[in-house]
This record gives sequence, structure tokens and C-alpha cells, in this order.
Amino acid sequence: MRLKGRDIISLEDLSNGEISFIFNTADKFEPIARGKKKSSALAGKVMAALFFEPSTRTRLSFESAMQRLGGNVIGFAEPTTSSIAKGETLADTIKTVEKYSDVIVIRHPKMGAARLAAEVAEIPVINAGDGAGHHPTQTMLDLYTIRKTMGKFKNLNVGLIGDLKYGRTVHSLAYAASRFNNKLFLISPPGLEMPREIVGDLSSQGKEISETSDLREVLPKLDVLYVTRIQKERFSDPAEYAKVKNTYKIELKTLETAKPTLCVLHPLPRVDEISSELDSSPYAKYFDQVFYGVVIRAAILSLLLG
Ligand code: NCD
Repeated sequence: MRLKGRDIISLEDLSNGEISFIFNTADKFEPIARGKKKSSALAGKVMAALFFEPSTRTRLSFESAMQRLGGNVIGFAEPTTSSIAKGETLADTIKTVEKYSDVIVIRHPKMGAARLAAEVAEIPVINAGDGAGHHPTQTMLDLYTIRKTMGKFKNLNVGLIGDLKYGRTVHSLAYAASRFNNKLFLISPPGLEMPREIVGDLSSQGKEISETSDLREVLPKLDVLYVTRIQKERFSDPAEYAKVKNTYKIELKTLETAKPTLCVLHPLPRVDEISSELDSSPYAKYFDQVFYGVVIRAAILSLLLG
């Protein structure tokens, strides 16, 4: 399995076998990610983290993974401090940064920006979110969390709820979860449905998908409920955001008809779509998910950097 030197822009860039291989590699990185075991696997390597959009978990878990493996990190969390503010193009920024580093992790508000960066750069580029496009490493950690929690990530009933129109995590997850024969239940307020091209792609591949705006209809069947934030920053009209912002709030009483083994995930940040009373319940796996972000990203960095 050769992942050395590869870009990760969309999960379509990886085969099912490669994804399983990344998961098996990740298992070995867990004690390193926890700080219980030392590693110098990436000593002398430099990761550049270029974040043109806000981030807490994605950027810090990439940085933590790199440092736990003995590597170094450069970059910016705020593009206004870079020459982008002087009008430099993304292509020139990438051509510069690749002279300083061995791998580039990029988050950008424009869909397709990571693909463009990968075309320009000779070194591996990892998409850490491109607008409402994709977020492949988030999806890998989502599937990995499901595997750790449920013992498998195949043949499950997976509900995706919230902003399915603008949420990039659910775009990547819808494709990936269906590839592993999970049945998708899409739950969104009217107007924020999963883009038709994604539903069309999956239906034409014969994947099982149901769509509703009412969680109660499907909740008893679900093994996983993946909750997302309404993506306020992607709305052009604040009035449209105001209409949908409080559509769903998952509380303990919301889950009365759920399976006792239901696994509730969220890529975070949450605004108010999951009540904090859920945090101490057995359903809540979203902070485990945060930790697995380090494990998965350590595996990915080590494999891409050989
Ligand atoms: C998500 C993102 O940035 O797409 N967060 C993350 O990476 N963990 C989800 C979101 O912002 O709602």
C-alpha cells in the first residue's frame, strides 16, 4: 500500500483498502497521540498549516499529531497576517510554502482551492476543508470513531442531521459511509437538503438513502446520529439563517425512542444543536471523536511522509 507523496483532497482519492489500511495504522498511533509513548517518526519533517478560515480542532489536531511524531509545524491561522493580505495569489503562496515544508495542510473558504493547491505543489497537500466542498480527514476520523465505538463501520443505519446543504463534513461522509454499505438517513430543514448532485450520484450507484425533515420518523432505526451546525457563514441572507437556526436541538428527551447503543457524533463546533446535558450520557461520542482526530491525522501524516 503506497500512500507516500500522495495528496488527500477528497476521499474519492483513496480506495476502501487504503482507508482500512489508514485505520489499521491509526490503531498503532493511539498511545503516541495520548502522549504515553514517544515517537520520532517524523523528526526533521515540517508540516505547513495554512488556515484561511477559522479552526480549532482540525488545525490543532494536525499540529498535535505532527509534534507527537517529533515533526515541526509552520503556518498561519489567520490569512490577514500573510502576504495574501497584500494580494498574493494562492498559487504563489503554495509555491513559496512548499520550499519551506514537506506537507501542506490547507483550509480555504473556496470550493476547489485545495485541488488547485495540489496541482501547483510538488509536495503532498491535504484538504482540511474547502468551503462547502469536502473535508476528507474529518470523514476518516468520523468513520474511525464509529469503528472504535460500534466495532465496525459497515452495514449500519447512519443519520445525518442539520445543514446538509453547506456542511462539507456531511458531503464527504455521505459518500464514504455509502461506500462501506451503510444506509443513509438524511434529516434536514427544508432548504438545507443534501445537494441534489450528491443524492443523484449515490442513488445512481444503487445506494440506499432516505430523506426527511422529521428526526422522529427515523430515530428508532439509527445506529449513528451525526449532528451538524447550521453553517451561518455560508448564508448570503441573514434572514434565511434566522429561519432555520433553531430547527433541531438534540436533548435527552429527544432520544427517548433511540436505540440504547445509539452513537451521537458531531464534528464540532456546536452552537446549540446538542444540549450539554447529553455530554455525560452514553450516547455522546463527540469528544472521543475529537481525540481520534489526532490519531487519524498522525497515521495520515506518517503515511504521506513515508
Ligand atoms: C467542521 C468544519 O470546519 O467543516 N469542523 C471541523 O472541522 N471539525 C464543521 C463546522 O464548522 O461546522
